[in-house]
Amino acid sequence: MSYELLTFLSLATIGASGILILLGLFFVKTGRKELHKKAMLSASFLALLFLVFYGIKYFMYPPKPYEGPYKGLYMFILISHSILAAINLPLAVITVFLGITDRLSKHKKIAPITAVVWIYVAITGWLIYAFLKLGGG
Ligand code: HEM
Repeated sequence: MSYELLTFLSLATIGASGILILLGLFFVKTGRKELHKKAMLSASFLALLFLVFYGIKYFMYPPKPYEGPYKGLYMFILISHSILAAINLPLAVITVFLGITDRLSKHKKIAPITAVVWIYVAITGWLIYAFLKLGGG
């Protein structure tokens, strides 16, 4: 697979996953629980696909360092993104598990945290791509 195709697939899957999380939040806040479930499960599936594409890309084309003028900001975004992406995985598994097994009071406690972390990871994933595009080595 070419670098361009893998980049496109990574950005498309993580971006669509973030948008589905926002949609899922909108659905649950407007009382449409079945649509909420479908949106969140689709978001989770796309996030898994993202991991596959990202993994292939990482090994086929190891990432280059950022050489642009905003190194401090870039490092802050990269490090926070990486830490929160790692945290997001168990958070997502727990949140989905609590949702599909009807443990809703626990689901409602952890789910807002998962949603915020997920959206942050999706947005910063795109930002990292933009940084590297403009100031990649
Ligand atoms: C990572 C995925 C998910 C996230 C981020 C998420 C997020 C949320 C949020 C923020 C709420 C609203 C909490 C509140 O109003 O206080 C909620 C409620 C709810 N979620 Fe999820 N959710 C996810 C997956 C699921 C799944 C897979 C189901 C499966 C059935 C589900 C079922 C529900 C239900 C039924 C409610 C309403 C609870 C109530 O109002 O009593 N969620 N979710």
